[in-house]
Amino acid sequence: MLNYDFQNWTRILFGKGYEERVGEEIKPYANKVLLHYGGGSIKESGLYDRVVESLRNAEVEFVELGGVKPNPRLELVYEGIELCKKEEVELILAVGGGSVIDSAKAIAIGVFYEGDVWEVYEQKEPIEKALYVAALLTLPAAGSESSVSSVITNEEKQRKIGFDDFHIRPVLGVINPELFFTLPKNQIANGAADMMSHVFERYFTTTRHTDLTDGLCEATLRTVMKNAPIVYEDPENYDAWAEIGFSGSIAHNDLLGLGREHDWACHGMEHELSALYDVAHGAGLAVLTPNWMEYVYKDNIDIFVQFAVNVMGVRSHRDKDAVVLEGIARLREFFNKLGLPATLSELGVNGDNLELMAKRATGEAYEHEVPLGGLKKLRWIDVFMIYYKSK
Ligand code: NZQ
Ligand code: ZN
Repeated sequence: MLNYDFQNWTRILFGKGYEERVGEEIKPYANKVLLHYGGGSIKESGLYDRVVESLRNAEVEFVELGGVKPNPRLELVYEGIELCKKEEVELILAVGGGSVIDSAKAIAIGVFYEGDVWEVYEQKEPIEKALYVAALLTLPAAGSESSVSSVITNEEKQRKIGFDDFHIRPVLGVINPELFFTLPKNQIANGAADMMSHVFERYFTTTRHTDLTDGLCEATLRTVMKNAPIVYEDPENYDAWAEIGFSGSIAHNDLLGLGREHDWACHGMEHELSALYDVAHGAGLAVLTPNWMEYVYKDNIDIFVQFAVNVMGVRSHRDKDAVVLEGIARLREFFNKLGLPATLSELGVNGDNLELMAKRATGEAYEHEVPLGGLKKLRWIDVFMIYYKSK
């Protein structure tokens, strides 16, 4: 097990009705907030009205900025920064999924950062300060409600980059599984694929003596795989959503990654798909992950056997390769049952830019190649091969 340094200060309020208390819960942090949201789902569901009422009841002043798109854009972040500075906002309340929360985090950084906030994402230097962020979650997937990450798309540069810093871990995450009842099927599936990937990126490692986190990872994966098909068929099943909502946060608050080297190659490869083709993050991961597994598993076959047996229910009496390949086949079948794509062409990604994306993902395109991944270090040609296999 490796050394670790971990602090998770996000207070999670989990369960029915907590969105109505959001005003009083953020009042200790701020008298004035930015209410930040996406393209309208919160107005259709009536959540917007409940949040506004809660803010008014708690005498928290607010200004608002809606319009966050999936794969959140830098342009709106700039607008948010100006608004927060002008209005002297003290906290950003993000009401939505990962995109809204990530946009809020970027604004929170930009309010105190003296240069262009995009530099923070490009240079990945630690920041000194950020505004408080609180998240009222409407889509369990990205885990941004208690993660240290924010992922932003710069359309002009065709880049999507993540930035991690403990200052942007939200102070409050509100998770009411009832708010997930309105999710369309494709978002349910994308969310399941994303949270599973957050576990995979930590689970598939060469670090040894990781019994506790191995077990936590496996339990999280089994929970998602049991409950995602239930909500897919029965979107108002509170109990199954509660399991999914809990799993999404656990998958990415980094408890599961303590003391082990991480991978993150699939996320790196997926961000290039989103940057160039605006694909949904979870759908891109569902395509790439099984192909990545087949490409890398021989570098630590034992952890893939463990996955096949403990998570995918494969019997372990055959040779190791057969066990692993059966586990990967079952994962593909699981994604397929959730209606997730299996090929890049199903995502609308043709073969024209595979080399460009592989070179961008590894930095080769910017003349400083840094191999992707932990379990197997992927050069641009390896990434190209995985994209090619995924066509
Ligand atoms: O914009 P609205 O109208 O709200 O609609 C959204 C959006 O179109 C809709 N939606 C959300 N909640 C809903 C709902 N529709 C009906 N009912 C509800 N209750 O869902 C659509 C997708 O929303 P989005 O926020 O984009 O999805 P998700 O939560 O999957 O977030 C994806 C983003 O998170 C990033 C991804 O890269 C991607 O940009 N990630 C962030 C991470 C982090 N900060 O820690 C980690 C992840 O690896 C991920 O990279
Ligand atoms: Zn993700």
